[in-house]
Amino acid sequence: MRLAVLISGNGSNLQALIDAIEAQTLGAQIVLVVSNRREAYGLVRARQHGLETLYFPIKPYRERGQSREAYDADLAARVRAYAPDVVVLAGWMHILSPAFLDVFAGRVINLHPALPNAFNGVNAIERAWQAYQAGEIDHSGVMVHYAIPEVDAGAVIVQERVPFLPDDTFEQFAARIHATEHRLIVEAVRRLAEVLKS
Ligand code: GRF
Repeated sequence: MRLAVLISGNGSNLQALIDAIEAQTLGAQIVLVVSNRREAYGLVRARQHGLETLYFPIKPYRERGQSREAYDADLAARVRAYAPDVVVLAGWMHILSPAFLDVFAGRVINLHPALPNAFNGVNAIERAWQAYQAGEIDHSGVMVHYAIPEVDAGAVIVQERVPFLPDDTFEQFAARIHATEHRLIVEAVRRLAEVLKS
């Protein structure tokens, strides 16, 4: 199964996919890695593994007074040229409109470090931690879902609870979240491969 992976930062979830593919525990190939941020370390990871990369910032579109939809449509065209079966948003920090999503007919999946309808949007890990400190929740989690225009919504492919532990620090909780992400991003692609085969 051909994957295009979109990142904006560290790329630890991209790395999880690379590691699973190279360990032959995930039957897929990464045909393109896209970042909207030049300094994203995920681009370094991709190049270290000989993967095709594309740096595609929105800034020139803004400077030309063009819309997000214009950027999204051009991004979709660039990604589509690599004929991915699935587009994976792994730490991708730009909300994609139907101008992108519709090109891939529902085969765009997104990793989000919280459970459905809990902490949609940015800083989900920090917000869950604050809710826990306020005694409002006793666990958070991670999900991978189909990307739709509504942020961090869409049908869930896989999700897993992540508990808060006594005398947890934020860093320890965040580390558990990230470890869960690294497993679920691989599991989600594995499940999608099954669905697309059937
Ligand atoms: C992850 O928590 C991801 O869900 C969020 O950014 C964090 C870093 O992701 N969007 P990565 O290391 O860049 O994959």
